[in-house]
Amino acid sequence: MNYRHAFHAGGFVDVVKHLILVRIILYFQRKAAAFRVIDTHAGRGRYDLTSREAERSPEWRDGIARVLAKGLPDLAAPYLDAIRAFNPDGLATYPGSPVLARHLLRPQDRLEAVELHPEDAAALKDEFAGDIQTRVIELDGWLALGAHLPPKEKRGLVLVDPPFEEEGEWERIVGGLVKAHKRFATGTYALWYPLKEPQEIADFVIALRATGIPKILRIELTIRKPSTPSRLYGTGMIVVNPPFVLEAEMRELLPAAVNALADDGRGAWRIEWISGEMS
Ligand SMILES: C[S@@+](CC[C@H](N)C(=O)[O-])C[C@H]1O[C@@H](n2cnc3c(N)ncnc32)[C@H](O)[C@@H]1O
Repeated sequence: MNYRHAFHAGGFVDVVKHLILVRIILYFQRKAAAFRVIDTHAGRGRYDLTSREAERSPEWRDGIARVLAKGLPDLAAPYLDAIRAFNPDGLATYPGSPVLARHLLRPQDRLEAVELHPEDAAALKDEFAGDIQTRVIELDGWLALGAHLPPKEKRGLVLVDPPFEEEGEWERIVGGLVKAHKRFATGTYALWYPLKEPQEIADFVIALRATGIPKILRIELTIRKPSTPSRLYGTGMIVVNPPFVLEAEMRELLPAAVNALADDGRGAWRIEWISGEMS
């Protein structure tokens, strides 16, 4: 495991991923019934943007710093307000997915954060020490898609955000979804994927369609054109059983996000149903 999220925290990928995460959690809040967020690849939770890693690769300057400076539609306010809440004296910290999710939980809701890297898992345990609504588990996140489902609340979001640094990650994410969906078919799943090689994405979409799982929404934002040799050119999220408002919300948010995150007209966005459009 070479991947360390500290180099990428607050970059354009995090911004888009976390905008989607926050909109999904806000939708769950519409009902009083408790929900659970399960974050299978949680990271260390909180990132110091002045750290050596963040200084060496300051992706956050072209990510969260840009959207804070340029602004986004009102739908982004809960996300941007959360970022500001962690930065009362100017941008110095970026809250990762478990910290953002925790920020939005009500007393009846729960968070389960799974992380395999011992150092990051330890940091996450410190972050949530004494928090009875949160459980941090040092474990292979792919295992959480089996035994940990369905959650006892029977409502919730499973965020799967692997580093895509190992062979077979595309197959593992599809296989993980199939396994999880058999156990918890009504759950919402948000699966992150990198846009690096267009052919990988085409194969991924075919594999997702072949699962027969209904209600799969594909959300993508690119900040540059694909190139050879391949380089990350965009960020994608598959959302299974999305809130019915998510498509419309992202149609409003993504054009503004592209304007903020991509240089002079080089970016683009798309939203498409891979299977079973919601009615
Ligand atoms: C992209 S980062 C997660 C970022 C986080 N979800 C966020 O949005 O703030 C991926 C994380 O997965 C961890 N990881 C890698 N392989 C894993 C595995 N098999 N199970 C759980 N975590 C893993 C890495 O250590 C890294 O912290």
